[in-house]
Amino acid sequence: MHQHFSLLPFNTFGIEVHAQYYERIEQVADLQKVLKTGIQPVMILGGGSNLLLTQDIPGLVVHNAIEGIEIVRKFNNKVWVKVGGGVNWHAFVQWAVKNGLGGVENLSLIPGTVGASPVQNIGAYGVEIKDVFVQLEAVALETGKICRFNKAQCQFGYRDSYFKKEGKGKFCITSVTFSLTQHRHRLQLSYGDITRTLAQQQVENPGIAEISAAIIQIRRSKLPDPAQIGNCGSFFKNPEVDRSVLEAIRTNYPNVVSFDLPDGRVKIPAGWLIEQCGWKGKRVGNTGAYEKQALVLVNYGGATGAEVKALAFAIIDSVWVRFGVRLEAEVNIL
Ligand code: EPU
Repeated sequence: MHQHFSLLPFNTFGIEVHAQYYERIEQVADLQKVLKTGIQPVMILGGGSNLLLTQDIPGLVVHNAIEGIEIVRKFNNKVWVKVGGGVNWHAFVQWAVKNGLGGVENLSLIPGTVGASPVQNIGAYGVEIKDVFVQLEAVALETGKICRFNKAQCQFGYRDSYFKKEGKGKFCITSVTFSLTQHRHRLQLSYGDITRTLAQQQVENPGIAEISAAIIQIRRSKLPDPAQIGNCGSFFKNPEVDRSVLEAIRTNYPNVVSFDLPDGRVKIPAGWLIEQCGWKGKRVGNTGAYEKQALVLVNYGGATGAEVKALAFAIIDSVWVRFGVRLEAEVNIL
């Protein structure tokens, strides 16, 4: 076990804070053993790609590095794949695409780990992990017991799950089982960017490999690479509001962008709201809103967590004052 351990290499924002204690675990048994030390509180770290660290972390930080990709069932057109919680998400997507298994190609290049993916029900380009999710195994941090969660128990919502609500901070997700397709993949091309990119590449009958390649290209063109500029992807959720709020905005901003939701409400892209408030590409000290996607806050180098948090609050305030819409962080602020 390490003491006063720097978390700088373990968060994609590239912020330096220290863990009081740190342990990397590769097996469920190692996790159960380290939990027996009784050190409290326990925080589980995956890829650190949805985390803004603003202070040193007391207690024990457990780095989930449980590897393994295993086909556990094949039936009809389906393949169930059990993946270790510490597996890099994109490595799993690449494995699926290489093996001709469909279902996660739209989720290409999302940073982070498989174990973290159900926590916020990661999603992009019309697909969320709930669409391919079968079950997960987790260790209860209080008791060390192994628990299994089916899809209903995970209570998936937009960037949301049981593990962000009642289950918050109580489990380490050690494996996730996904259901992928062997043939007749259900391709999801409804996002305009995908069809535009495929047309540019002159791809006529795209398969999962072409979709994955197109999405990688789109993401690279819009989102900063954390290896070069520290960031955590979208910092805020896209707000879901009543239609009346949208109509009020539309009177002054006829070009407001919105997406209809099944319940009659609408989603307004946070990136649009933030851009209208003048933040896009604006630099404040060592931090700022990314020039190509205002929803992404970045660390230009040497930013503190407090600095990024202050920027986030300033953005929330200005969007509230101008539009009467309350932005909510998607990133976990610790
Ligand atoms: N927009 C602007 N200005 C900006 C950014 C966006 O006006 O600076 C408007 C544009 O009109 C654009 C619309 O917002 O058409 C939507 O933008 P984009 O397609 O980039 O998607 P997003 O809604 O900003 C969401 C997810 C992303 C995901 C993309 C694609 C959330 C919080 N974010 O972003 O997820 O990759 O859709 O599906 O839902 C993440 O969660 O970290 C993430 C990157």
